[in-house]
Amino acid sequence: MAELRSRRSNLAVPGSNTRFLEKAKGLPADQVFLDLEDACAPLAKPGARKNVVAALNEGGWGSTVRTVRVNDWTTAWTHTDVIEVVGGAGAELDCLVLPKVADAAQVQALDLLLTQVEKAHGLEVGRIGIEAQIETAQGLLNAGAIASASPRVETLVFGPADFMASTGMRSLAVGALHPDYPGDPFHHVLVQILVAARAHGVQAIDGPFLQVRDVPAFTEAARRSAVLGFDGKWVLHPGQIDAANEVYAPSQEDYDHAELILDAYDWATSAAGGAKGSAMLGDEMIDEASRKMALVIAGKGRAAGLSRTSSYTPPEG
Ligand code: GLV
Ligand code: MG
Repeated sequence: MAELRSRRSNLAVPGSNTRFLEKAKGLPADQVFLDLEDACAPLAKPGARKNVVAALNEGGWGSTVRTVRVNDWTTAWTHTDVIEVVGGAGAELDCLVLPKVADAAQVQALDLLLTQVEKAHGLEVGRIGIEAQIETAQGLLNAGAIASASPRVETLVFGPADFMASTGMRSLAVGALHPDYPGDPFHHVLVQILVAARAHGVQAIDGPFLQVRDVPAFTEAARRSAVLGFDGKWVLHPGQIDAANEVYAPSQEDYDHAELILDAYDWATSAAGGAKGSAMLGDEMIDEASRKMALVIAGKGRAAGLSRTSSYTPPEG
């Protein structure tokens, strides 16, 4: 899997609100997306583009991953969003978020336009990534092709609100359980997105939870996708950030264990360790499949800035 950025919490910031743009800089979210799409009224979009360019160029984002959500390709706005934002602040931008992606061609169109704008402004071609939102029935059907449509794609992001609108799904709260359905109505969708993402080595990000004041309910919804393997979730309110950072990071214990497995397996497969294909770590038998699982957990822990609290000692003899 390509080098992973930590994306446990992904804070939505409306591009039309300069106060929120300023405030977002001091918050502990792993990633921000400055929104030109659904959080900006049509009449506010031209001003929002300028605010977003200024907020990126002013700096102060620390190590936060900086992304901007452009409008989708069925609108009149996508090309102007890209030309203004990448042309105005491309060097300060990590990824563009493309909403309501229907198929691979829409990702390729963004890739082509980005490449041209990068060239026109002397930017490094191909550095800016793409996050593809899967939030329509068509997008879900094409999720695998979307994930592999361009080497720029870094994540697939679930958009539950638009997905419910697209499919007619009923729910009381986006991402919450429905009293008339025995189980999580989003389970199948989340797994489909996760599998499409993992099949192509990109991250899987869960979408927003709209009941912003109910942090326990947010945490419960986040746990459901974290258990499946999702890398993070959107947060709409600063109060959701700590919960997301906690839920999507591996625990210290799981992280330490994953690093020990990697060391033990490296040792066992080395000439000095006997070039064995499996080994014991304490009472646990480990092999290549254990190493793969450990790599995922260690990768998330490293990306989240955890450090080891134990070290591996090879067995005697
Ligand atoms: C996010 O964009 C959503 O539609 O839920
Ligand atoms: Mg949406």
